Amino acid sequence: MHHSNKIIKVLFVLSSLATLTLADWFDNGNFYQIYPRSFKDSDGDGIGDLKGIKSKLQYVKYLGIDGVWLSPIMKSPMYDFGYDISDYRDIHSEYGTLSDFDDIVAECKRIGLHLILDFVPNHSSHEHEWFKKSERNESGFEDFYIWRNPKIDEVSNTPVPPTNWLSVFRYSAWRWSEIRQQMYYHLFQDKQPDLNYRNPQVVTEMKAILTYWLEKGVSGFRIDSIPSLFEKVEADGSFLDEPRSYNTDCDAHDHCYLKNIYTEDQPETYDMVYQWRKLVDDYSKVNNVERKILMVESAAPIDLNMKYYGNSTMEGAHFPFNFDLLLKLTKNSSATDYKIMIEEWLNKMPKGHMANWVLGNHDRSRIATRLGVEKGDLFNILLQTLPGAAITYQGEELVMENVPISWEDTIDPLACNSPKEELDIRSRDPVRTPFPWDDTKNAGFSTGNKTWLPVGEKYKTVNVKAQEEAINSHLKIFRKLTKIRKEARFKNGTYDGHILNNGNIYSYKRQNGNEFAIIILNFGTTDEIVNLSEIYSNITSHLKVYTSSLESGFKDG
Ligand code: NOJ
Ligand code: MG
Repeated sequence: MHHSNKIIKVLFVLSSLATLTLADWFDNGNFYQIYPRSFKDSDGDGIGDLKGIKSKLQYVKYLGIDGVWLSPIMKSPMYDFGYDISDYRDIHSEYGTLSDFDDIVAECKRIGLHLILDFVPNHSSHEHEWFKKSERNESGFEDFYIWRNPKIDEVSNTPVPPTNWLSVFRYSAWRWSEIRQQMYYHLFQDKQPDLNYRNPQVVTEMKAILTYWLEKGVSGFRIDSIPSLFEKVEADGSFLDEPRSYNTDCDAHDHCYLKNIYTEDQPETYDMVYQWRKLVDDYSKVNNVERKILMVESAAPIDLNMKYYGNSTMEGAHFPFNFDLLLKLTKNSSATDYKIMIEEWLNKMPKGHMANWVLGNHDRSRIATRLGVEKGDLFNILLQTLPGAAITYQGEELVMENVPISWEDTIDPLACNSPKEELDIRSRDPVRTPFPWDDTKNAGFSTGNKTWLPVGEKYKTVNVKAQEEAINSHLKIFRKLTKIRKEARFKNGTYDGHILNNGNIYSYKRQNGNEFAIIILNFGTTDEIVNLSEIYSNITSHLKVYTSSLESGFKDG
């Protein structure tokens, strides 16, 4: 009797170890994006910093998050607020030091958070020493960036860019260098020259940088602007002009004026992502540490996006961001539009991979401003209950709105390069404002006299403290969602979706064994009575409301 008991115990331990090694920490992960300039300022200079972030990691943990992604914190002259790196191995001085970074890693470990860094491989800052050396044509650095001679315009007999390629931040993507007497390619600002991935030395350097941060204990990377890593080169080394897109939303200086067939989505780009995946997997294997995650930023059409997951022989990123919620849907979208969009990703995704849903980020209008504050909870319910990873931008848990910023105060380079009339659609400043912790000075973000962007007016009521103290709030709903999400019916459950009530209601069932949950989302503008037994069989037991949006009038329980 005694003996067999012992044997059973041992077997039990073994089997639980086996499941531990099978599941990765990031499966169905819940991710949170911190914009370091705006999360928490520890030293009163009005700019967020690493010590500030460290002091608020408990908050992120309390939200129920698994992985926290920091927008770039590496050394930068900040012409694109960190997406222009001048030293990939150092911390930006306004944010702190490498030792502050080590402290964040240690604190994450201590409280059970996984730290993810933003890796910006497509371009560096023009202040990076590689660029300075390349501009001087120093030996070994000649081809670190993409240099070409200008063409001579036959009519005016003056030098013009080698191709018609346009910058995402508008105007030509080529800039003349007096020093080198050639032009270099920059997809973003002229202060963000594109690195040349056809140079094996660049590839080696970038891999060494990934390893450098892995050795510091990070749990993975969000990789910036991935589709533009490679440009198509002709056999003779030249580039071709891109054809026009005839997209009527774009003027002749806009990136979207052209079909970006030579500057995006090249086959070599997918291969580089597969190589990086192998690098992080090998690192974990060799060092016997947790698996690392790679999430890539791509707004490519879905069929191209799917290639980032990998091919028949190579694994790729764990997922390419799914921006459909951000880019495709408007106030006029119906429940059916949501269902179609969501199921398209679920169906097209290669088997055995992870779906993901992005509700907001530092580049796009906040969802509450775009689609209505009253729908804020609805989107958080959607995000937290769909199969796959959820990615929340700081402030979405409070259902924050954009903070209006005048043309005079605008500092985002994209907006500054655009006509004043387009401020509202272009500027990214309104979604990058300081995080509202409470209703005190500067929303509790900073003790300084001025913050780098204004905090706005709404923080007096929309802040963490107020939403913690309220009987019910967006924050409390968010926390209930992240909690239930960890249960098997959400973690591994099946998905079964339906449209009801003349296209106003989107409902789905998540089920694992006998455990299930039904999600009911009203995209319409009026109250609806929903007959669930019409669509779901075997609903015999009495259902209980786990959580609902603030406006729905439902009481939980
Ligand atoms: C995408 C980033 O999200 C954006 O903020 C940045 O300006 C560009 N990539 C260039 O790095
Ligand atoms: Mg500071």
